This record gives sequence, structure tokens and C-alpha cells, in this order.
Amino acid sequence: MSNILIINGHPHPEQSLSGKAIIDELDRLLPQAQVRTLAALCRNGSFDVQAEQQALSAADTIVWHFPFYWYSMPALMKKWIDDVLTHGFAYGSTGTALHGKMLLISLTTGAPAAEYARGRSMTWPMEDFLPPLLQTANYCGMQSLPPVWSNGMIFINGVHGEANRERILAAAKDHAARIAAEVNA
Ligand SMILES: Cc1cc2nc3c(=O)[nH]c(=O)nc-3n(C[C@H](O)[C@H](O)[C@H](O)COP(=O)(O)O)c2cc1C
Repeated sequence: MSNILIINGHPHPEQSLSGKAIIDELDRLLPQAQVRTLAALCRNGSFDVQAEQQALSAADTIVWHFPFYWYSMPALMKKWIDDVLTHGFAYGSTGTALHGKMLLISLTTGAPAAEYARGRSMTWPMEDFLPPLLQTANYCGMQSLPPVWSNGMIFINGVHGEANRERILAAAKDHAARIAAEVNA
């Protein structure tokens, strides 16, 4: 069976309705997967790089899950990539540790799907924001699975109503199911 590693890059996972629901559902659907919560693993501003690299080395399929922040990943997730995907480990002539592994990019956005289009507030479709992430996988010798995203996932207590909560929880379950289907395929 494939070793699945889920990197949860949300900087405030306990405050996120969709982030928590997606990870909870992934726990249920993929009980064999290891989830690493970067917000808990970053201590005094640093990761244990060796532990992170060991977890990556042991995995066959890796999921990077995060909320879309300024059309990219949160700084915490970016720091993890900068610190952990080092020369000699992830790239360079001897950096082959990630070769042949599968990577799935999983993200949520605040803006609704209709806004990610030409002539709308986000100007470009979602696919146009993903090449730097997909190229990170390529450069490290990983194969990208089709990215999974869900739009319109922002929920602010007291601002958004119960109908929105229910819609987001259902979308989060669907999001996790799409990830599980891909990594199990
Ligand atoms: C600093 C910051 C930047 C964000 N940037 C974007 C963005 O570029 N596009 C977008 O659609 N949503 C953006 N959002 C909204 C989040 O992606 C959205 O709230 C998230 O996917 C759902 O997670 P949450 O429960 O933490 O809010 C941003 C939110 C924050 C806090």
C-alpha cells in the first residue's frame, strides 16, 4: 500500500472551518496517511529539517494542502519548502530523494469559482496560478497528480450564516473525497 503524507500548511488550522473539515475527512478516508501540521511543527520559527526530510523520504504520495494566500501558498508552507527541499536532498546531482514520488496540490480559496475567470475580479482562471507549484514538483523529480481546489471556502463567524457553514462543510467533504480518489487510483 502506498505511504501517503499530508502536509497541512495552514498557519492557523484550528481557526479554519474548511481546513479542519478537509483534514478530518482525509483522516477518515485515508486512515493510513500521516498528517504533518506545519503550524505545530514550526518551533521558534524553525522546522526540524531532518525529521521533515525523513517523512518525505518514507512517502510515496505527498499532498500539500493549504489555503490560497495572495495567489500562492501561506508563508509557513513556503518556509517549509524553502527549508526542507534542499540541494542534495530534493535537487542537484545527488538530490534524488523525491524522484518518482507523486505530489498532489490541494488548496482552498476565499473567492468563488466564478471570480477566477477573464474579466472577473481574479482576472485569470485557477489553472493559471498553478505552474510555479507544478514546476516545483517537476524540478524535484516528482509527478504531479491533478491539483484539487475548492473555491468560496471562507467562513467568518458572525459574518457568514449557517447556510454558508453547511455549504462549506459539504464542499470540504467533497474536496477530501477527490483527493482520496486520486491518491487511491
Ligand atoms: C492573508 C490571506 C490572503 C488570502 N489570499 C487569497 C487569495 O489570493 N485568493 C483567494 O481567493 N482567497 C484568499 N484568501 C482567502 C483564503 O484562501 C480562504 O479564507 C481560505 O481558503 C479558507 O480558509 P480559512 O478557513 O482559513 O479562511 C486569503 C486569506 C488570507 C488570510
